[in-house]
Amino acid sequence: MSIVEQLQRQHLKQLTPYASARRSMSGGNIWLNANESPYSNSYNVDDSKLNRYPEFQSKPLNQAYAEYAGIKASQVLSSRGSDEGIELLIRAFCEPGQDKVLICPPTYGMYAISAKTFAVGVTEVPLLNSGKVNNWQLDTESVIEASAECKVIFLCSPSNPLGNALNTNDIEQVLQHSPRSIVVVDEAYIEFSSGDSVVSWLERYPNLVVLRTLSKAFALAGIRCGFLLANDDIIELLQKVLAPYPLPDPTVQIAVQALQTSSLERLQQQVATLLAERERVQTALEQTPLTLVSQSDTNFLLYQCEDAAGLVKTLADNGLLIRNQSAQRGLENVVRITIGSAAENDELIQQLKDYFS
Ligand SMILES: Cc1ncc(COP(=O)(O)O)c(C=O)c1O
Repeated sequence: MSIVEQLQRQHLKQLTPYASARRSMSGGNIWLNANESPYSNSYNVDDSKLNRYPEFQSKPLNQAYAEYAGIKASQVLSSRGSDEGIELLIRAFCEPGQDKVLICPPTYGMYAISAKTFAVGVTEVPLLNSGKVNNWQLDTESVIEASAECKVIFLCSPSNPLGNALNTNDIEQVLQHSPRSIVVVDEAYIEFSSGDSVVSWLERYPNLVVLRTLSKAFALAGIRCGFLLANDDIIELLQKVLAPYPLPDPTVQIAVQALQTSSLERLQQQVATLLAERERVQTALEQTPLTLVSQSDTNFLLYQCEDAAGLVKTLADNGLLIRNQSAQRGLENVVRITIGSAAENDELIQQLKDYFS
């Protein structure tokens, strides 16, 4: 038996790591598989202090994000992507081998993987696609019932991989009736959504946490910067388990510039363009045998087809990457397609037409 087999923590033997878009697919020249922005915006980086450790938490950055989100700087924690925020919550609130988190599949994979990494249990309360077609919503009663045994509840709105936003009334019900659980609303795609953020509820609900990121609409996946928004006592607890220097100095510099008024105006324009492109792609794909699985409030679309693996492979062989979501509960033969630049979307539409002809 190798040293690793002898010494590794037992529960890690069964753990399948997160198959991120970048890790599971390589090559290609059109990347529509990671919900990234097609825009690469320019920033200035001052290299005169790279010999120094960065701040534990940058005041200018947290202040800028607080202004953007309409909250106090003391309610902001900046982290290495919102993935780090997910992990901090589990490390700070859940006892390994004892506590559980609650997720509502189909949902973002890192909630369960982060929990399992720390030997924390995962309770699943699937979303329901009843009532309005293509509008997946919380099974609110069951979430509230199950929350009695779950320390942290992860709600993703708008949802990855579905795309639609959860009803804010349902989220509020969960917050009200699960006062002994931390209710995390992951708003990674909020800038694309026509719905409202729940961030203004922080004053009302001491158990609310909102996750945000610069990886999507802000077009900054490469700098790894996310924000966890919560009341001061939660932020103080999370700071106990946060790494000493979580964000590299160039990340902080770029993130501060991205939150300036001129950059936010550019963001609005880029979001508007992507939403118009989403409309265009959706309309074009109505002419194919693909079936839309969910209404999108994000920068991606979700479609069912006959053979997701075959479709993903054929497009990848032609240099165009999309994401197979078939491993998700209830999403057999479903693919997720990120909205790219107009030229990338043209290529996508053409390749799909060719595939189905
Ligand atoms: C719903 C959701 N939450 C969180 C993340 C992680 O984002 P970040 O790049 O900030 O770690 C993603 C990334 O795809 C996501 O889709």
